[in-house]
Amino acid sequence: MLRRPVSEDGAAVHRLISRCPPLDENSIYCNLLQASHFSDTSVAAEVDGELAGFVSGYLMPQRPDTLFIWQVAVASEARGIGLAGRMIREILRRPACVQVRHLETTITPDNTASWALFRGLARKLGAGCVDSVMFDRERHFRGRHDSEMLLRIGPFAEAAAASTE
Ligand SMILES: CC(C)(COP(=O)(O)OP(=O)(O)OC[C@H]1O[C@@H](n2cnc3c(N)ncnc32)[C@H](O)[C@@H]1OP(=O)(O)O)[C@@H](O)C(=O)NCCC(=O)NCCS
Repeated sequence: MLRRPVSEDGAAVHRLISRCPPLDENSIYCNLLQASHFSDTSVAAEVDGELAGFVSGYLMPQRPDTLFIWQVAVASEARGIGLAGRMIREILRRPACVQVRHLETTITPDNTASWALFRGLARKLGAGCVDSVMFDRERHFRGRHDSEMLLRIGPFAEAAAASTE
């Protein structure tokens, strides 16, 4: 079952993220904000009453036609059945995203699953995608984290998200 998160999900989100390397763990407080302030652009997936997936996202403050996907996490036992893609398309179908024509996210160069997820999503939306360095390993992370590549998908039509399964 896919649903908007509620603040009570924050602690379970924190636990799920901790089981999903290479995702960065944030504070529980950060996960609480994602599950409350950003609930319209985030999604929780429940399987047998347990949190099996979570996507956090927000509309870019200066560009509300762009949905930024912050983190995507799927519990290892729920992977490979299309859950991540379904969660993102669920967000795109919501009233909060009627004006959204682009999707952005950042991905580390070696995260094969994440590249496949977002390139597949672009294909399903019938949109192009371009990548560039957003946060550089040396310049931004002082060598303590891999570079984060910005992947920008779009433009896509409002109907594109609604028509993808
Ligand atoms: C990345 C992740 C969210 C994918 O979740 P998922 O539910 O298994 O993904 P889906 O089943 O929706 O697959 C989406 C696409 O990615 C492909 N894919 C998924 N995992 C893959 C892998 N390990 N290697 C190659 N391709 C992969 C699928 O084949 C599918 O391709 P398609 O659209 O062409 O059919 C999950 O592996 C995960 O939580 N990883 C750890 C955290 C992480 O890296 N998150 C992403 C960074 S934000």
